Amino acid sequence: MGLFITFEGIDGSGKSTQARRLARSLESRGHDVVLTREPGGSTGAEEIRELLVKGDPGRWSAETEILLFTAARRDHLEKTIKPALDAGKIVVSDRFADSTRVYQGAARGELRQLVDRLHSAVIATEPDLTFIIDMDPQIALRRGLARQSGEDRFEDLGLEFQQKLRAGFLDLARDFPDRAVIIDGNGAEDLIAQKVLTCAAGALA
Ligand code: ADP
Ligand code: TYD
Repeated sequence: MGLFITFEGIDGSGKSTQARRLARSLESRGHDVVLTREPGGSTGAEEIRELLVKGDPGRWSAETEILLFTAARRDHLEKTIKPALDAGKIVVSDRFADSTRVYQGAARGELRQLVDRLHSAVIATEPDLTFIIDMDPQIALRRGLARQSGEDRFEDLGLEFQQKLRAGFLDLARDFPDRAVIIDGNGAEDLIAQKVLTCAAGALA
């Protein structure tokens, strides 16, 4: 069996940057690594992603969103994550189920129960190690919007929403102490990457 590592945190906190860097570092140490992301990470899930990240913030109800994110995740799991883990590879995913727990379950209504029920029915997989990149939403929001990716439906929900998310991720780290590691996202990229690599190397030892 391989190792499943995820990055979580608010929008613009540096997840994609750090996921990429960790994947590269592990590869250069001779590991077989699959770098992937959510929503997306497989052909079908990338198609569902388009429905989720673009358009009006009120486009979907929270319930519909949960179903779409979970459908995308199931496809990602079947087509990308499980085959890689079964082949003994390291999977590094930029977001996974914790994002649904926090974004849909905590921040948008009291829907955590529905999230948890769907998760255990059709996903039932947890990462071995989760990096939660923590930082001030104001700084993260500025970083995220500066990218002008055209995928800002969630960033457009505003600062107050991002503050709720930050608190949600910190709560989550307390709920899953065995796998969750909080990383301060304010430092220099190199410094954060070093901390992340040290921790991942510990999990591989
Ligand atoms: P996320 O995937 O969490 O949305 P990204 O990795 O895409 O975040 O980073 C958002 C923006 O911030 C990018 O433009 C990236 O280059 C920049 N960035 C990432 N890490 C840092 C850092 N430690 N310090 C300053 N800027 C950063
Ligand atoms: P992502 O591309 O990771 O955005 P960013 O790089 O800005 O962090 O994710 C797209 C958006 O989807 C992001 O705002 C978070 C949201 N999201 C959820 O609301 N629930 C989920 O389960 C996932 C995976 C993402």
